Amino acid sequence: MTVTNSQSGTNVHEVSDGIYRINTPVVFENGNTFSFNQYLIVDDEPLLFHTGPRKMFPLVCEAVSSVLPVERIKYIGFSHVEADECGSLNEWLAVAPQSIPLCGTIAAMVTIEDIADRSPRALTDGEVISLGTHRVRWIDAPHMPHAWDCGFLTEEVTRTFLCGDLFTQGGADLPAITTSDILGPSEAFRHRLDYFSYTKNTRTLLERLASTEPTTLACMHGSAWSGDGATLLRALADSLSS
Ligand SMILES: [Fe+2]
Ligand SMILES: [Fe+2]
Repeated sequence: MTVTNSQSGTNVHEVSDGIYRINTPVVFENGNTFSFNQYLIVDDEPLLFHTGPRKMFPLVCEAVSSVLPVERIKYIGFSHVEADECGSLNEWLAVAPQSIPLCGTIAAMVTIEDIADRSPRALTDGEVISLGTHRVRWIDAPHMPHAWDCGFLTEEVTRTFLCGDLFTQGGADLPAITTSDILGPSEAFRHRLDYFSYTKNTRTLLERLASTEPTTLACMHGSAWSGDGATLLRALADSLSS
Protein backbone atom coordinates (compact mmCIF):
# COMPACT_ATOMS: atom_id res chain seq x y z
CA MET A 1 0.00 0.00 0.00
CA THR A 2 1.27 3.46 -0.95
CA VAL A 3 0.19 6.54 1.02
CA THR A 4 -0.16 9.37 -1.50
CA ASN A 5 -1.19 12.11 0.94
CA SER A 6 0.14 11.98 4.47
CA GLN A 7 -2.30 14.58 5.81
CA SER A 8 -5.50 12.82 4.70
CA GLY A 9 -4.06 9.30 4.69
CA THR A 10 -5.20 8.76 1.09
CA ASN A 11 -3.63 5.55 -0.14
CA VAL A 12 -3.41 3.28 -3.18
CA HIS A 13 -3.34 -0.52 -3.27
CA GLU A 14 -3.58 -2.95 -6.19
CA VAL A 15 -6.48 -5.28 -5.30
CA SER A 16 -6.44 -7.38 -8.47
CA ASP A 17 -4.32 -7.45 -11.59
CA GLY A 18 -4.12 -3.85 -12.85
CA ILE A 19 -7.01 -2.67 -10.63
CA TYR A 20 -6.07 -0.15 -7.94
CA ARG A 21 -8.14 0.85 -4.91
CA ILE A 22 -7.78 4.51 -3.95
CA ASN A 23 -8.90 4.99 -0.37
CA THR A 24 -9.43 8.10 1.70
CA PRO A 25 -10.37 7.66 5.38
CA VAL A 26 -12.61 10.32 6.93
CA VAL A 27 -13.59 11.29 10.48
CA PHE A 28 -16.89 13.18 10.71
CA GLU A 29 -17.56 15.94 13.23
CA ASN A 30 -19.62 13.56 15.38
CA GLY A 31 -16.62 11.24 15.62
CA ASN A 32 -17.97 8.59 13.22
CA THR A 33 -15.41 7.17 10.82
CA PHE A 34 -15.90 6.14 7.20
CA SER A 35 -13.96 5.77 3.97
CA PHE A 36 -14.39 6.49 0.28
CA ASN A 37 -12.84 4.26 -2.37
CA GLN A 38 -12.38 4.72 -6.08
CA TYR A 39 -11.07 2.02 -8.41
CA LEU A 40 -8.65 2.65 -11.23
CA ILE A 41 -8.33 0.05 -13.99
CA VAL A 42 -4.99 0.56 -15.71
CA ASP A 43 -5.13 -0.44 -19.36
CA ASP A 44 -4.94 0.96 -22.90
CA GLU A 45 -8.13 2.86 -22.11
CA PRO A 46 -7.95 3.43 -18.35
CA LEU A 47 -11.17 3.56 -16.36
CA LEU A 48 -11.82 5.28 -13.03
CA PHE A 49 -14.88 3.88 -11.25
CA HIS A 50 -16.36 6.47 -8.87
CA THR A 51 -14.83 9.93 -8.80
CA GLY A 52 -15.18 10.48 -5.06
CA PRO A 53 -16.92 13.57 -3.66
CA ARG A 54 -16.15 16.86 -5.41
CA LYS A 55 -14.30 18.23 -2.38
CA MET A 56 -12.06 15.17 -2.42
CA PHE A 57 -10.98 15.69 -6.04
CA PRO A 58 -7.45 16.98 -5.25
CA LEU A 59 -6.73 13.90 -3.11
CA VAL A 60 -8.08 11.43 -5.66
CA CYS A 61 -6.30 13.19 -8.52
CA GLU A 62 -3.03 13.07 -6.60
CA ALA A 63 -3.52 9.35 -5.92
CA VAL A 64 -4.39 8.51 -9.55
CA SER A 65 -1.32 10.41 -10.74
CA SER A 66 0.85 8.17 -8.58
CA VAL A 67 -0.24 5.27 -10.82
CA LEU A 68 -0.57 6.88 -14.27
CA PRO A 69 -0.75 10.35 -15.86
CA VAL A 70 -4.31 11.58 -15.19
CA GLU A 71 -4.71 12.81 -18.77
CA ARG A 72 -4.60 9.16 -19.92
CA ILE A 73 -7.96 8.37 -18.27
CA LYS A 74 -10.55 7.38 -20.90
CA TYR A 75 -13.65 6.50 -18.90
CA ILE A 76 -15.12 8.08 -15.77
CA GLY A 77 -17.56 5.42 -14.61
CA PHE A 78 -19.95 5.23 -11.68
CA SER A 79 -22.88 3.19 -10.34
CA HIS A 80 -25.48 5.93 -9.81
CA VAL A 81 -25.69 9.67 -9.44
CA GLU A 82 -24.55 10.80 -5.98
CA ALA A 83 -21.73 13.04 -4.82
CA ASP A 84 -19.36 10.24 -3.84
CA GLU A 85 -20.06 8.44 -7.14
CA CYS A 86 -19.61 11.31 -9.58
CA GLY A 87 -19.31 14.60 -7.67
CA SER A 88 -16.08 15.55 -9.41
CA LEU A 89 -17.08 14.25 -12.85
CA ASN A 90 -16.56 17.60 -14.55
CA GLU A 91 -13.22 18.14 -12.82
CA TRP A 92 -12.10 14.78 -14.24
CA LEU A 93 -13.39 15.61 -17.71
CA ALA A 94 -11.27 18.78 -17.53
CA VAL A 95 -7.99 17.15 -16.47
CA ALA A 96 -8.41 14.18 -18.84
CA PRO A 97 -9.35 15.81 -22.16
CA GLN A 98 -10.08 12.50 -23.96
CA SER A 99 -12.25 11.14 -21.17
CA ILE A 100 -16.01 10.62 -21.22
CA PRO A 101 -18.54 9.66 -18.55
CA LEU A 102 -19.53 5.99 -18.50
CA CYS A 103 -22.86 5.09 -16.94
CA GLY A 104 -26.17 3.32 -17.44
CA THR A 105 -28.87 4.54 -19.81
CA ILE A 106 -31.10 5.94 -17.05
CA ALA A 107 -28.31 8.02 -15.46
CA ALA A 108 -27.35 9.30 -18.91
CA MET A 109 -30.91 10.24 -19.86
CA VAL A 110 -32.03 11.71 -16.54
CA THR A 111 -28.93 13.53 -15.32
CA ILE A 112 -25.57 13.12 -17.00
CA GLU A 113 -26.50 14.38 -20.48
CA ASP A 114 -27.40 17.63 -18.72
CA ILE A 115 -24.86 18.12 -15.94
CA ALA A 116 -21.72 16.66 -17.51
CA ASP A 117 -19.46 18.84 -19.64
CA ARG A 118 -19.20 16.03 -22.22
CA SER A 119 -21.83 13.50 -23.27
CA PRO A 120 -21.62 10.09 -21.65
CA ARG A 121 -21.22 6.68 -23.18
CA ALA A 122 -24.46 5.13 -21.97
CA LEU A 123 -24.30 1.37 -21.49
CA THR A 124 -27.28 -0.90 -21.90
CA ASP A 125 -27.85 -3.85 -19.62
CA GLY A 126 -25.28 -6.57 -20.31
CA GLU A 127 -23.17 -4.42 -22.64
CA VAL A 128 -19.42 -5.11 -22.61
CA ILE A 129 -16.58 -2.77 -23.46
CA SER A 130 -12.93 -3.67 -23.81
CA LEU A 131 -10.33 -1.49 -22.11
CA GLY A 132 -7.43 -3.39 -23.69
CA THR A 133 -6.62 -6.44 -21.59
CA HIS A 134 -9.50 -5.82 -19.18
CA ARG A 135 -13.15 -6.13 -20.16
CA VAL A 136 -16.04 -4.60 -18.20
CA ARG A 137 -19.73 -5.51 -18.38
CA TRP A 138 -22.52 -3.17 -17.22
CA ILE A 139 -25.38 -4.72 -15.25
CA ASP A 140 -28.51 -2.68 -14.54
CA ALA A 141 -29.60 -2.90 -10.90
CA PRO A 142 -32.40 -0.34 -10.46
CA HIS A 143 -32.97 0.58 -6.78
CA MET A 144 -30.41 -2.00 -5.59
CA PRO A 145 -29.23 -0.89 -3.15
CA HIS A 146 -30.69 2.51 -4.09
CA ALA A 147 -31.35 4.91 -6.98
CA TRP A 148 -33.41 4.33 -10.12
CA ASP A 149 -30.29 4.67 -12.25
CA CYS A 150 -28.21 2.17 -10.26
CA GLY A 151 -26.06 -0.42 -11.98
CA PHE A 152 -22.62 -1.96 -11.69
CA LEU A 153 -19.57 -2.83 -13.72
CA THR A 154 -17.91 -6.18 -13.40
CA GLU A 155 -14.42 -6.76 -14.80
CA GLU A 156 -14.52 -10.17 -16.40
CA VAL A 157 -10.82 -11.00 -16.85
CA THR A 158 -9.92 -10.60 -13.17
CA ARG A 159 -13.50 -11.38 -12.03
CA THR A 160 -13.51 -8.16 -10.03
CA PHE A 161 -17.02 -6.94 -9.28
CA LEU A 162 -17.11 -3.14 -8.82
CA CYS A 163 -19.89 -3.44 -6.28
CA GLY A 164 -20.38 0.22 -5.34
CA ASP A 165 -22.38 0.64 -2.15
CA LEU A 166 -23.00 -3.09 -1.66
CA PHE A 167 -21.21 -4.39 1.44
CA THR A 168 -20.60 -0.88 2.77
CA GLN A 169 -18.52 -1.07 5.95
CA GLY A 170 -18.10 1.80 8.39
CA GLY A 171 -14.75 2.66 9.92
CA ALA A 172 -11.65 4.36 8.58
CA ASP A 173 -8.77 2.02 9.35
CA LEU A 174 -9.76 -1.17 7.56
CA PRO A 175 -7.28 -3.18 5.45
CA ALA A 176 -7.20 -2.47 1.70
CA ILE A 177 -8.31 -6.02 0.95
CA THR A 178 -9.48 -8.76 3.24
CA THR A 179 -10.61 -12.38 3.20
CA SER A 180 -12.39 -11.91 6.53
CA ASP A 181 -16.16 -11.60 6.75
CA ILE A 182 -17.52 -8.30 5.42
CA LEU A 183 -21.19 -9.29 5.40
CA GLY A 184 -21.50 -9.03 9.20
CA PRO A 185 -19.90 -5.57 9.41
CA SER A 186 -21.82 -4.29 6.37
CA GLU A 187 -25.11 -5.61 7.72
CA ALA A 188 -24.35 -3.94 11.07
CA PHE A 189 -23.80 -0.70 9.15
CA ARG A 190 -27.09 -1.17 7.22
CA HIS A 191 -29.00 -1.63 10.45
CA ARG A 192 -27.61 1.70 11.70
CA LEU A 193 -28.00 3.67 8.47
CA ASP A 194 -30.42 1.97 6.15
CA TYR A 195 -29.51 2.64 2.54
CA PHE A 196 -31.42 -0.17 0.78
CA SER A 197 -34.62 0.20 -1.25
CA TYR A 198 -35.90 -3.39 -0.69
CA THR A 199 -37.81 -3.92 -3.92
CA LYS A 200 -39.37 -7.21 -4.99
CA ASN A 201 -36.51 -7.56 -7.51
CA THR A 202 -33.68 -7.44 -4.96
CA ARG A 203 -33.07 -11.20 -4.76
CA THR A 204 -33.29 -11.64 -8.53
CA LEU A 205 -30.74 -8.87 -9.07
CA LEU A 206 -28.36 -10.27 -6.44
CA GLU A 207 -28.71 -13.75 -7.97
CA ARG A 208 -27.79 -12.34 -11.38
CA LEU A 209 -24.72 -10.66 -9.89
CA ALA A 210 -23.82 -13.93 -8.12
CA SER A 211 -24.00 -15.76 -11.47
CA THR A 212 -20.95 -13.75 -12.64
CA GLU A 213 -18.96 -15.59 -9.91
CA PRO A 214 -16.70 -12.72 -8.86
CA THR A 215 -13.59 -13.46 -6.83
CA THR A 216 -12.88 -9.87 -5.78
CA LEU A 217 -15.53 -7.45 -4.52
CA ALA A 218 -14.36 -3.85 -5.00
CA CYS A 219 -16.39 -2.11 -2.30
CA MET A 220 -16.82 1.66 -2.37
CA HIS A 221 -16.72 1.98 1.41
CA GLY A 222 -14.44 -0.18 3.54
CA SER A 223 -12.19 -3.06 2.56
CA ALA A 224 -12.22 -4.76 -0.81
CA TRP A 225 -12.80 -8.47 -0.39
CA SER A 226 -11.32 -11.60 -1.87
CA GLY A 227 -13.18 -14.93 -1.92
CA ASP A 228 -16.26 -16.70 -3.26
CA GLY A 229 -18.32 -13.68 -4.27
CA ALA A 230 -21.32 -15.69 -5.46
CA THR A 231 -21.80 -17.25 -2.04
CA LEU A 232 -21.43 -13.87 -0.33
CA LEU A 233 -23.97 -12.19 -2.66
CA ARG A 234 -26.48 -14.99 -1.99
CA ALA A 235 -25.86 -14.60 1.74
CA LEU A 236 -26.63 -10.89 1.40
CA ALA A 237 -29.90 -11.75 -0.36
CA ASP A 238 -30.79 -14.09 2.51
CA SER A 239 -29.92 -11.48 5.11
CA LEU A 240 -31.97 -8.79 3.37
CA SER A 241 -35.06 -11.00 3.31
CA SER A 242 -34.74 -12.32 6.86
FE1 LIG B 1 -25.04 5.40 -3.21
FE1 LIG C 1 -21.27 5.34 -1.86
